[in-house]
Amino acid sequence: MSALPAADAKETFRRVKRHFSPALAVAGKFTGQGAVEAFAEHCRVVLSDGRSVLDFGSYAVALLGHRHPDVVAAVRDRLDVMTTSTRTVQSPVPPLAAQTLTEYLGGGLDRVFFGCGGADAVEVSVKLARMATGRMTVVAVQGAFHGKTLGALALTDNPRFKKGIEPLLQGVVHVSPDDPEAVANAVREHDVAAVIFEPVQAENGVRLLDEAVLARWCEDAHAAGALVIADEIQVGLRRCGPRSVSLDAGLPVDAVLLGKPLGGGVVPVSAAVCNDKLYAPLLSDPLLHTATFSGHPLGTAVIPVALEAIERQAGNGERVEAALREGLQALREQYPDALVEVRGRGLLWGMDFRSPEMAGEVLTGLAQLGLVVSPCISRPTTIRLLPPIVAGDQEIKEALSLLGEAVARAAAI
Ligand SMILES: Cc1ncc(COP(=O)(O)O)c(C=O)c1O
Repeated sequence: MSALPAADAKETFRRVKRHFSPALAVAGKFTGQGAVEAFAEHCRVVLSDGRSVLDFGSYAVALLGHRHPDVVAAVRDRLDVMTTSTRTVQSPVPPLAAQTLTEYLGGGLDRVFFGCGGADAVEVSVKLARMATGRMTVVAVQGAFHGKTLGALALTDNPRFKKGIEPLLQGVVHVSPDDPEAVANAVREHDVAAVIFEPVQAENGVRLLDEAVLARWCEDAHAAGALVIADEIQVGLRRCGPRSVSLDAGLPVDAVLLGKPLGGGVVPVSAAVCNDKLYAPLLSDPLLHTATFSGHPLGTAVIPVALEAIERQAGNGERVEAALREGLQALREQYPDALVEVRGRGLLWGMDFRSPEMAGEVLTGLAQLGLVVSPCISRPTTIRLLPPIVAGDQEIKEALSLLGEAVARAAAI
C-alpha cells in the first residue's frame, strides 16, 4: 500500500466522517478551520493550510511540547535495539523505568504497574484495592473524571457517558468535595476498599480540592483500613507545580496514578505507582493483572528521559505560571462581565465564561486566531489552558494576546 498523503485535509475529514463519526468530522473541521495537523515541534503545530498554531491544549499530553528532542532520541535508540518484548524473557527497560519513576516520586511508593492510557492505571488501582482489602465499595468525588472504560466510568461522575450501559462497576459512592466528614460517613455505611480523588479536578472545570479535606479523608480511610488513590494522570509530573500534588501536600496516599505526559508527549504510557499494601495481590500472584503491552519497551524507555527533561524545565514552568496568572487576571479585570472567573495552578488554568454560548464564541475566535486549548467536556462554560512547561516568554505573550482578542470579540457580540 502506498504511503498516505501526509496532510490532505478534505480526504481526512471524509475518512473521519466515514470511519469514525460525522460529529467528529464537524468538530475537527471547526477547530482546524478546515485544516488538519501536518507537523509539530515545541509549542507549535503546523497545519495543512500552512498556518502555525500555538498548542496550549492537547489535553495535558504535550507538557514537554511536541517531539522533544531527547524523547524522540530515546525512541530512536530503542528502535535500533529491540522494540517489543517477548514477555517471557525479561526486558531491562520497564524495571529501569519503574526504578526511575518511584525514585522521582519518593513517598514510599515502590511498586509500579504500567499501562498505555490513564484508564488502565485507574482500573488496576481499583482492582488491586478490592483484592487487597476484600471489600468492594469505592468512594469517588462528585465531578470526578477518571476515564471511560467500564470500571473507570463508574468512578467518573458524568451521567452523559453512562446512559444506557448501566449497571457499571457496582459499589461506587460519590461524595461532596467540600465535606470533610464524607469518608468518615462512607466507611460507617459501606465496606470501603478505597477512596479515589483528583487533587485538582481538571475536567470538572479546573477545581482545586481543599488539601485539608483530602488529608482528613486519608486519615479516615486509613483508620478504617481503606486505601487512598490519587489520580494525577492530568495534574502530576509538574503540570500543577510539584512532581506529585498529593505527595507534595504530605498526603499519605497508597497510589499515585500517572499518564498523559509520562511518555514525554511522544508515546502513550501510564503508571499506577503504589505502595506494598495496595500492590500486595500482585506480590503474591503477578498474573492476577496483566496486559500484553504493559511495560512496553518503546513506551517505558522514554520515561527516565521525559522525567529528566521535565525536571530541567521546572524553573521555566514557574515563570510560565507567574506570567499566565498575571495575564489571565488582567484579562478577567478587563472583561468582568464575560470572563467571570479564572483559576488554576501551575500549568493548568480554567477560564469560566458567563455562558456556554460565550465560551463557544471564545473557542471559535481561538480556532480562527490559532491558539489550541482544551474545552472541559463536563463544564461547557470553562475553557482549559494547558501551556507546555517549555513555553517561552514569546509564546506566553502570544497566547495572552490571542486570548485577549478572542475574549474581546466574544464580549462585543
Ligand atoms: C484525571 C484523569 N484520570 C483519568 C483519565 C483517563 O485517561 P485516558 O483518557 O488516557 O484513559 C483522564 C483523562 O483525561 C484524566 O484527566
